[in-house]
Amino acid sequence: MTALLELQGVTVGYGGGDVLHDLSLVVEEGGITCIVGPNGAGKSTVLRLVSGLLHPRLGGVRFSGESIVGLSPRVILRRGIVQVPQERSLFPTMTVWENVRMGAYTIADRALIDRRMSEVCERFPIVHERRDERAAALSGGQQKIVEFARALMLDPALLILDEPSMGLDPKTHATVFDLIRDMNAAGRTILLVEQNARSGLGLATHGVVLESGRVRLEGSGSEVLNNSEIGRLFLGAPA
Ligand SMILES: Nc1ncnc2c1ncn2[C@@H]1O[C@H](COP(=O)(O)OP(=O)(O)OP(=O)(O)O)[C@@H](O)[C@H]1O
Ligand SMILES: [Mg+2]
Repeated sequence: MTALLELQGVTVGYGGGDVLHDLSLVVEEGGITCIVGPNGAGKSTVLRLVSGLLHPRLGGVRFSGESIVGLSPRVILRRGIVQVPQERSLFPTMTVWENVRMGAYTIADRALIDRRMSEVCERFPIVHERRDERAAALSGGQQKIVEFARALMLDPALLILDEPSMGLDPKTHATVFDLIRDMNAAGRTILLVEQNARSGLGLATHGVVLESGRVRLEGSGSEVLNNSEIGRLFLGAPA
């Protein structure tokens, strides 16, 4: 396995003190890496760092073997790292179709954009079925799926998903997780942050438990899921 993304001894914060402390982790190419941990552990901060919204005070970040420290979010996007944020991010008054097309805003080649639009419509039929509706008319789960479609317009080498199941009913939750599994089976490397540790780690090839900005435990998804201490701390008492 090769490392697609590597964080090496990263320390970073927002000005009010450090949030991540000497953090190292590796995202293997072709896998699903899942970060779990309590609220405020620093999960989204890791993702903001990787997308270039934050710059480390100490340590390094390498993508495909090259340092991406100091690069702007736009350049990092062009390198092939695309993120679906935790909060809703579609433009509510634009149509579904316009939103998905926006995902390709850094691409100039119109034929390529059209080809990608057909590809995402095939994978996510809702993009075609609801194409002329305003994004705000869709349910939360449907909007999340359209956000996935938009993210795939750049055919990213690394797809980052921040708590994709947040606020979804069980059926939609299952659909979203099936889509994540499908995207990975099609060869996409995924970095996932999940509040729902059971589903996240159940899907993951590699699991990382973050606590207070430090890696508390890591291993295969099932190793982390079955660790008794972690079960007690983050997953609730075993049933
Ligand atoms: N923009 C910001 N400015 C200042 N502090 C912030 C900012 N964003 C996050 N923090 C702080 O950084 C810490 C980690 O936040 P982060 O959002 O990374 O946690 P998280 O693990 O993603 O939590 P959650 O599960 O609630 O999404 C928290 O203490 C939070 O208050
Ligand atoms: Mg978060």
